[in-house]
Amino acid sequence: MSKSSDIIARDRKVISPSLTRELPFVFQKGSGCHLWDVDGKRYLDFTACIAVSSIGHDSPVIRKAMLRQIKYGIHAAFSDFYAETPVRLAETLLGLMPGFQKVFLCNSGTESVEAAYKLARWHSDRTWVIAFQGAFHGRTMGALSMTNSKPVQRGRFGPFLPVVHTPYPYAFRMGMEPEECAQHCLGLLEDRMNTMRGDLAAVFLEPIQGEGGYVVPPASFVKGVRKLCNEYGALLCDDEVQAGCFRTGKFLAIENFGVKPDIVSLSKAIGGGVPLGAMVSTDAVMDWPQGAHANTFGGNLLACAGGIAALEYMKRKKLGDNAVRIGKIIMKGLESMKGDAIVDVRGLGLMIGVEICDRVERDRIVRKAMEDGLLLLPAGESVVRISPPLTLTKGEAEKGLAILEGCL
Ligand SMILES: Cc1ncc(COP(=O)(O)O)c(C=O)c1O
Repeated sequence: MSKSSDIIARDRKVISPSLTRELPFVFQKGSGCHLWDVDGKRYLDFTACIAVSSIGHDSPVIRKAMLRQIKYGIHAAFSDFYAETPVRLAETLLGLMPGFQKVFLCNSGTESVEAAYKLARWHSDRTWVIAFQGAFHGRTMGALSMTNSKPVQRGRFGPFLPVVHTPYPYAFRMGMEPEECAQHCLGLLEDRMNTMRGDLAAVFLEPIQGEGGYVVPPASFVKGVRKLCNEYGALLCDDEVQAGCFRTGKFLAIENFGVKPDIVSLSKAIGGGVPLGAMVSTDAVMDWPQGAHANTFGGNLLACAGGIAALEYMKRKKLGDNAVRIGKIIMKGLESMKGDAIVDVRGLGLMIGVEICDRVERDRIVRKAMEDGLLLLPAGESVVRISPPLTLTKGEAEKGLAILEGCL
């Protein structure tokens, strides 16, 4: 029996069966854009372990920063006492987000969305929220109420909080031209807003839909959502958990559309691999009183030290520019592979969705790629997502494309 099979068998005995695992990859170690399994096989990683390891695996900058912090301590009860490391993280983050002044620290994506949801309800003193069909915002009850990507995630968990869902402009699936689709979805959004006039707290938006299928909306749609939020007095809550942190070139993906949100949720890549989340807003919006929202581990010193190192590295190495440059090479390569299997290609920077003709073929391609040494993850109904570390080189991009082409 291989080591991988042995660990998977032990895992099945003790780990909750609710996790999503679709591939039999068992992690041993990582370095740069490569991962190794416990049987010694090397893989080129086009997943960044779900868009987390943007600065590459086993980054020396994260290791050094955490070792430095460990010397002094790892936890300081930041909800009850003060410490400098979390303050430095907030200052670093705000330095990348002009126009925002306040940060709430937490440990994961769902918690940063949950915090955004609670702040939106508190600040507006209104009840309803609108989210989009196909959205993924997390799995705690507030975030889950807005999640709508797969039935299994919501089944038996209701009743949910007061959230309604309206279509996201997935032009390919809706069989429309992008602009026509954007206007159609904005019209449906406005219809929804009209039914809850005066009691709509917020609209939650992924600037690029992630789990739903790496769907890039037209800029007119994102701008239109902002305009409608202004007209109806609703807060625009931007979920950047997957798309943020330079993955699309800009620090926030929504910047690509020239739109400024009211509240931003971040996680995944901001920790460089350590569990970290942040909800960011303005002085005017983040006006809740002492005790209204807090947590035990938010501001954890080790996580914050990792976060500062990851953010500073991404900025210093201009990883956003690399994401745009390498993303163009990958998009061009994928465009040339379009045919019976690949039916649509879309993306910004290194957040690229490859629409496959059907789900069975998509699953076959992802498995075959793994056999051939390329790690990919599925998204949506029949999409392969490409979200490698932002440190990916041209040579690694071309190697990955060649493996993928061989699988078609
Ligand atoms: C856009 C988005 N929001 C929220 C989440 C939830 O993050 P977490 O799994 O860290 O709770 C995810 C996770 O994939 C995500 O992609």
